[in-house]
Amino acid sequence: MQFQLSEEQRAVQEAARDFANRELLPDIIERDRKMQVPLDQLKTMGELGFLGMMVSPDHGGGGMDTLSYVMALEEISKIDASTAVIMSVNNSLVCWGLEHFGNDDQKERYLSKLATGQWIGAFCLSEPEAGSDATSQRTTAIRQGENYILSGTKNWITNGSTSSIHIVIAQTDRDKGHKGINAFLVEADRQGVEIGPKEDKLGIRSSDTHSIIYNNVKVPLSSRIGDDGFGFTFAMKTLAGGRIGIAAQALGIAAGAYELAVAYANEREAFGKPIIKHQAIAFKLAEMATEIDAARQLVYHAARLKDAGKNYDMAGSMAKLYASDVAMKHTVEAVQIHGGYGYVKEYHVERLMRDAKITQIYEGTSEIQRLVIARSILKGHLQDPVFIK
Ligand code: CAA
Repeated sequence: MQFQLSEEQRAVQEAARDFANRELLPDIIERDRKMQVPLDQLKTMGELGFLGMMVSPDHGGGGMDTLSYVMALEEISKIDASTAVIMSVNNSLVCWGLEHFGNDDQKERYLSKLATGQWIGAFCLSEPEAGSDATSQRTTAIRQGENYILSGTKNWITNGSTSSIHIVIAQTDRDKGHKGINAFLVEADRQGVEIGPKEDKLGIRSSDTHSIIYNNVKVPLSSRIGDDGFGFTFAMKTLAGGRIGIAAQALGIAAGAYELAVAYANEREAFGKPIIKHQAIAFKLAEMATEIDAARQLVYHAARLKDAGKNYDMAGSMAKLYASDVAMKHTVEAVQIHGGYGYVKEYHVERLMRDAKITQIYEGTSEIQRLVIARSILKGHLQDPVFIK
């Protein structure tokens, strides 16, 4: 098994850490309060290559491996989980899906714009009545000659108002079940695309989440991804990688809270000594360090499997399930270690605690991750170990 990180991977990690501290940290409390998308910072991230990290250089991307990508996401998430989800959706769901399953013409039209951050993308699967049960799509795409007519509502769409292109999953033929589902590339300025109001969320408040309504939007056949009926498989394959990204986001949130807790515990004195010297606090930190490191191993392992061309569905779900629980548990502990200071915005840990919750929900709830893992076990994946030898 490979333990060493390459010089390039370390450099990417360093660059992401530096960018997050320099560009994302200064206004973060204000952006969170005002639900403000970091538009200027996203532009810089595009220029630095953080929005199309795994995309081939032929299409304007960084041509990096998944491990470099998750390490960068971890660093961004330590500081700003809102920016991290924008980055994750653009890289994992939009760019990756388009590069792997789009045709040459579709890649030519959109990929370099997305990889360089000139455009941001959105992935539109969830609906008011189809969240976990993703095959129950109500949005329809009815074929009319050389076009499809798209009608329906998508919910909880990350990058809802900032995206220029949507990947929309819709039902073309209900009788065929999941085999009647297709995925389409839909420009946000197409006639009939309506962006609903912004959601006022508990966490990740400076990422914009909207419903999007498609009112008889005409989409050319050339915008369909893959063969007729490929849409559900496309969504599942793309989400399997997306889940590694969200696992990295959860890991970063937990690690960010831990770093703040260690610094505070060294500085804050009670009963005549720094609180880190009190066993009650030291033991909390010991548990945090252990579980965060375990989460990191799962996240990096899933990324390495993907890079090695092995199946990573189960490993990605395990990483997301565990890292999101660790993020939730230990951001609560970080607030506790900070005492009253942890409850106010200035100390950052309350925001990380609010941000952590969504990692147990989006890109498949923790219950869905258990389902994916359990189904993999039923298929015999335990007998066929996922570890790289
Ligand atoms: N790769 C390839 N194919 C896959 C697959 C995968 N990872 N997972 C499933 N499939 C295929 C199955 O093989 C099956 O095909 P066949 O019938 O040809 O064998 C087909 O898809 C249907 O699979 P299931 O019978 O397992 O379908 P199901 O109805 O039981 O649902 C599910 C499976 C895993 C629960 C799925 O519905 C699911 O993942 N739900 C959660 C959806 C989700 O994650 N939503 C997140 C929204 S996106 C988001 O949050 C983005 C954001 O903005 C942050």
